[in-house]
Amino acid sequence: MGDALNVGIIGAGKISAAYATTLARLPGVTMTRVADLDAGRAAALAADFPGVRAGAPDELLAADDVDVVLNLTVPQAHAAVALAAIASGKHVYGEKPLAADTTEARSVLDAAARAGLAVGCAPDTVLGTGLQTARSSLAAGDIGTPVAATAFMVTPGHERWHPSPEFYYQPGGGPLFDMGPYYLSALVTLLGPVRRVTGMTAAPRATREIGAGPRAGTVFPVNVATHVTGVLEHAGGALSTLMMSFDVWAGQLPRIEVYGSAGSLSVPDPNHFAGPVRLFTATAQEWVDVPERAGYRDAARGYGVADLARSLRDGTPPRASGDLAYHVLDVMERLLEAAGSGTSAEVTSTCTVPPPVPFGAVPGDA
Ligand SMILES: NC(=O)c1ccc[n+]([C@@H]2O[C@H](COP(=O)([O-])OP(=O)(O)OC[C@H]3O[C@@H](n4cnc5c(N)ncnc54)[C@H](O)[C@@H]3O)[C@@H](O)[C@H]2O)c1
Repeated sequence: MGDALNVGIIGAGKISAAYATTLARLPGVTMTRVADLDAGRAAALAADFPGVRAGAPDELLAADDVDVVLNLTVPQAHAAVALAAIASGKHVYGEKPLAADTTEARSVLDAAARAGLAVGCAPDTVLGTGLQTARSSLAAGDIGTPVAATAFMVTPGHERWHPSPEFYYQPGGGPLFDMGPYYLSALVTLLGPVRRVTGMTAAPRATREIGAGPRAGTVFPVNVATHVTGVLEHAGGALSTLMMSFDVWAGQLPRIEVYGSAGSLSVPDPNHFAGPVRLFTATAQEWVDVPERAGYRDAARGYGVADLARSLRDGTPPRASGDLAYHVLDVMERLLEAAGSGTSAEVTSTCTVPPPVPFGAVPGDA
């Protein structure tokens, strides 16, 4: 494709192969380079993708064949890498959260705006058929007026499987900042921006132990809340109840449900692109499957980057946008603030909910 956006990946860790694999099959984007502080990791990733060059981050930032930096570093480095990319005249698309805090995140958005560059951010799972079909059902009025929602994510912790899990337990990590972006991006897409939030948190264990990989058995400190509960008041009035935990061995909880004046909607796992959407209506009095009818089919991590490429060609904002990611980060930060102060916190940021994704379209084709 002649006008394909050239993508350079910075951060060749655990998630990078998933992105590289998707980018290799998507139109509108071409992966040209990969870089990491650990040169061996960059070389290992590039080796699987012919034509992709491995090198140091500075080299990638200076390269003419990179239009957008795909920032797959750890959350604590997201802002610094994004700012360096913007200073080098590159668009940026980053893994979640947008930054470790809203001050850093604002500096990224402001720098990009000044430079006339775009900022996109994960999660792009909300662009898949699962969430988009649920959104379409809500928009069709299947459950009447939304009143409330629940969002539950419980796990014993990522240190069981991740070879370098320390970042999950530092500020910018924890169950809320790590998994919250999937759930909150979904809730904001379904129910609109959030205006007020309250919460409570716990951190029952001071240390964790790596359970897999070459460093298994290593004990490291926990510096974040690992069990987070909260209530979000959306600007439209609906209330979402949230529980995000790294302290639960097992639970038989729904992922996301939305409750309306005329029924209920069961929304699939927002960490995945597809999944069953189920509807209960007051008239039918039973749960039925809602057939897939919206969203990018067969999507995977990287569709948000292709959607950013599409938006640059169209001159429209990206769907997995920096503004949405900033609002989500603000909601999470305010929730922790409210938990700390024992009050509720106002969320002063807002965002435009991105336009629905047409069924089956590949970004760049639509
Ligand atoms: N692992 C997953 O399953 C998963 C899934 C979805 C999203 N994510 C997100 O993806 C991001 C990366 O996660 P991961 O699991 O791949 O982490 P990881 O620790 O496996 O990899 C991160 C890589 O970034 C590199 N890095 C760190 N700072 C850097 C810098 N300043 N410049 C260049 N390289 C730098 C590290 O050397 C490392 O190779 C995180 O934001 C995480 O939340 C991870």
